[in-house]
Amino acid sequence: MADWVTLCANQELPPGQREVFGINGRWIAVFNIDGAVYAIEDLCTHDGNVLAFDQYDQPSKLIGCEVECPRHGARFDIRNGKVTRRPAEVDVPWFEARIKDGNVQVLI
Ligand code: FES
Repeated sequence: MADWVTLCANQELPPGQREVFGINGRWIAVFNIDGAVYAIEDLCTHDGNVLAFDQYDQPSKLIGCEVECPRHGARFDIRNGKVTRRPAEVDVPWFEARIKDGNVQVLI
């Protein structure tokens, strides 16, 4: 059964920021877009690259609510995990996320 897990205090993930958290053996990328938080698995379904940051630990490209894999350019909608651009063909796992009592939480 899934449970809400607290990741950090809300002020540690301000709008425009992202962070990756290790939870239950998975890496979860959490994005704050204009005060709303979204969470996807930080693992591109094309060839297993990370999504939230590039190889130099710089934030990967975010176009609206689509994150672009820094390796081959696949894009995923962080609001639902759907593929929006190839070469990936499989959606990335998505997790419900929220801000509650001043904390960022995901349902996992
Ligand atoms: S590993 Fe992400 S697009 Fe290829």
